[in-house]
Amino acid sequence: RIVPVILSGGSGTRLWPLSRETYPKQFWPLVSELTMLQETAARAIGPDFAPPVVICNEGSRFMVAEQLRALHSGTGAAEGPLGARVVLEPQPRNSAPAIAAAALLVHEENPGQVLWLLAADHVVTDLPALHAALGRAAAAARRGKIVTFGMSPTSPETGYGYIETGPELKEAPGVHRVARFVEKPDAATARTFVEGHRHLWNSGMFVATAATLIAELERYEPELLAAVRTAVQAARRDLDFIRLGEAFLAAPSVSIDYAVMEKTEAAAVVPASIGWSDLGSWAALWEVAPKDAAANATQGPVELLDAKRCLVRSEGILTAVVGLEDAVLVVTDDAVLAMHRDRAQDVKKVVDRLKAKG
Ligand code: GDD
Ligand code: MG
Repeated sequence: RIVPVILSGGSGTRLWPLSRETYPKQFWPLVSELTMLQETAARAIGPDFAPPVVICNEGSRFMVAEQLRALHSGTGAAEGPLGARVVLEPQPRNSAPAIAAAALLVHEENPGQVLWLLAADHVVTDLPALHAALGRAAAAARRGKIVTFGMSPTSPETGYGYIETGPELKEAPGVHRVARFVEKPDAATARTFVEGHRHLWNSGMFVATAATLIAELERYEPELLAAVRTAVQAARRDLDFIRLGEAFLAAPSVSIDYAVMEKTEAAAVVPASIGWSDLGSWAALWEVAPKDAAANATQGPVELLDAKRCLVRSEGILTAVVGLEDAVLVVTDDAVLAMHRDRAQDVKKVVDRLKAKG
């Protein structure tokens, strides 16, 4: 069985002011009744899957446990809260250290175990297609590959990794070598990638064995791996929680994309059409949301007059919009965001500025 590893420790700053450090987007229902964490966990339930490993920040532990419990009570499965193991980081260090911790923990039990790393903030609408792609990816993973899922790009997004596909692997049908992996290119580069028709978006899910991940981390990030190994050895286990030791803080903060995927020779890609979207920004959320005849997406007590292609969400306060086009308006208890939809990537800059001001 494949072990799903759900990365649930990001802070989702581009969905400010809804997503906050203490209550990030993966714990919100954004596209259905289920929260994004629950949506993700639900994709990996069934006979092909072992109970998941969820890795998150110490401060999120009750939210994670409660959301998994609620999902579990809806599935009727026999094991604990989905039998999940929840790994807690003393402080976030981005995805590479989180993945290292999960790989080391699973490696203790079975080095050849195939892991499916999942981001907790994605929409996938075609589950059978996802599982078919996963099957192909797992076959290549057992042969030492780190397999990404490649999505056909629809615009020159700068927030994604781009994968240049190479030839198909003889030993794994449907899986291709990665000629080159470029994380978050600038806008001009992204445009040439999309126009060249040889690149796919990295979906942010990966399939590899624990042993392969550790070997590649050892090669490119030995200090990171050493720090996380010490933290895993010092981990305290109580109930379903595994608390990593303080040595975790010595790991550099870096994503798996920069740390390993841009460098490794083991990268492979399974091109797949799975109805994927990343809910990384308000613009992305608008894309997937149900819309009215003028392409407005609304949630909460909202009144619109002559608005077009807007996203308007209020968590409580009655909110009216008149005559705006391509606007995003998000109203929460203590903050309001108003912006052009094209500027959705820049919310992060506002959050950084607010942080700097304390
Ligand atoms: N446990 C833990 N700790 N999880 C984390 C941490 C952390 O410190 N930081 C991020 N994560 C989780 C996030 O919650 C998310 O589920 C996943 O790791 C990816 O992190 P993001 O911060 O959302 O990455 P990204 O969106 O900028 O880029 C990645 O995803 C894109 C597709 O959505 C990359 O893999 C890109 O190449 C890819 O295109
Ligand atoms: Mg993301």
